[in-house]
Formats: sequence, C-alpha cells, structure tokens
Amino acid sequence: MPAADDQRELELTIQTFDKYAQQYCDKFESYKPYIESYEKFAALFTPRHRQVLDAACGPGLFCRLLWQQIPRLDIKGIDLAPAMVNLARSNCPDAQFAVMDCRDLDQLDGRFDAIISAFCFPYLNQNEVTEFIRSAAEMLSVGGLLFISTMEGRYENSQFKRRSEDEGVLNYLYSESFISTTLIEQGFVVLDLFRQNYPLDNAEADTDLFVFARKTSGN
Ligand SMILES: C[S@@+](CC[C@H](N)C(=O)[O-])C[C@H]1O[C@@H](n2cnc3c(N)ncnc32)[C@H](O)[C@@H]1O
Repeated sequence: MPAADDQRELELTIQTFDKYAQQYCDKFESYKPYIESYEKFAALFTPRHRQVLDAACGPGLFCRLLWQQIPRLDIKGIDLAPAMVNLARSNCPDAQFAVMDCRDLDQLDGRFDAIISAFCFPYLNQNEVTEFIRSAAEMLSVGGLLFISTMEGRYENSQFKRRSEDEGVLNYLYSESFISTTLIEQGFVVLDLFRQNYPLDNAEADTDLFVFARKTSGN
C-alpha cells in the first residue's frame, strides 16, 4: 500500500466501521474465541491493576467483560468511529469513552496499568504500530499489562480490501516476530502467545494472533 493512500484508506475504514457498528457488535458479542481471549487476559489482573485503556475499543465488548469480571477497574476507551463509541457507552456505562485516534496515544493524560489493542493493528502501518508500542510502554506502569490481537501474515501482503466506492477496510498483516521483537525492544516481556483460525466464507481462514505482554522496565 503506497503511504500516500494511507490517510484516504483509513478514512474509508473508519466510515465503514461507523456504518456497520451495530452489525459488528451483534456478530462479535457472542463470538467465543474472542470472549475467551478477554477472559484469559482478565485472569492476569492483580489488585494493583486498576487503570485500563482500550485503544480502538469498538463497541466496548472487551471493556464490558473486564468490568463485569473486575468492577473495581477504572476503564477508558477510545475509537475513531463515533457510532462505535456510542455503542461502547451503552454496553459499558461505567467506563469513559471518547472519539479519538489511537495514533495520538501520547496525548492522553495519565498512566495505565493495562492497555488493550484488540484488532487495532490491522489499521495501522508498521511505523504506527512501532510508535503505538513505544507510547504504550511510556504510559504503562512497571508490571503493567498489554493485550495485542491482530491478523498474522507477511506485511508485504497487506492490502486495502475495497467493498465499493465508499466502503472498504485496511488490512495490515503482521508477523509474530515483528510484534515480539518490537515488544522486547520497548521493555516488555511476552507472557503468552497463541493463534486461532478465523473462518472466512469464500477463502482460506485468516490467522488471528494474540500476544499478552508485561512491561518490565522503565519509569
Ligand atoms: C476490528 S474493530 C475492533 C474493535 C474492538 N477492539 C474489538 O476487538 O471488538 C477495529 C476498530 O478500530 C477502530 N480504529 C481503526 N483505526 C483507528 C485509529 N487510528 N484510532 C482509533 N480507532 C481506530 C475502528 O473504528 C474499529 O472500531
């Protein structure tokens, strides 16, 4: 994908998520493999983990489960699609949500004990992912947790999946080695890593990659 097209393609991606926010929510609120990944991550929380940021929170399904399991958490979610943020507010009324670009993470005030990036990297290029992980490292307390889920594949095979003139989604693919190496360079240790097939109607299944990390060094 030429870099010059990125901004237009991101705009179309957000427009598409905004238009289909309710369908997205209906489809994934009962999708077991993702719910299980949230539960697995929630099991890593200890009483010291209180402040949580969900970057590209979508309809707030991860926030809702976390809050149901650990109601003492202080949860903030951001997403660029207003319809997603509205759904997140109704799905998890006890959290705070804002329409915001997760590429501007460093503009958020405060410090977090856990940061979630669930299927956000498919919409960020390699430099943006590196920058996201660097900002996450800065904003997390030592011992803080990071959740990453993304679609695994060769970066060179990334493409914009156009559906029509005004609909389509970015689809950046990342290798496990790129994610793990970047995490380690930014002071994280990988706690858990697993993959799941994501079945597609008319094509070979995608591979979803899940990485849980802990910040071990820094301020
Ligand atoms: C596949 S959905 C994932 C939603 C949620 N994290 C989940 O796992 O259910 C991707 C979300 O990323 C949001 N998004 C994409 N690029 C973004 C960006 N640069 N900043 C904030 N949100 C973004 C979209 O609006 C969409 O809600």
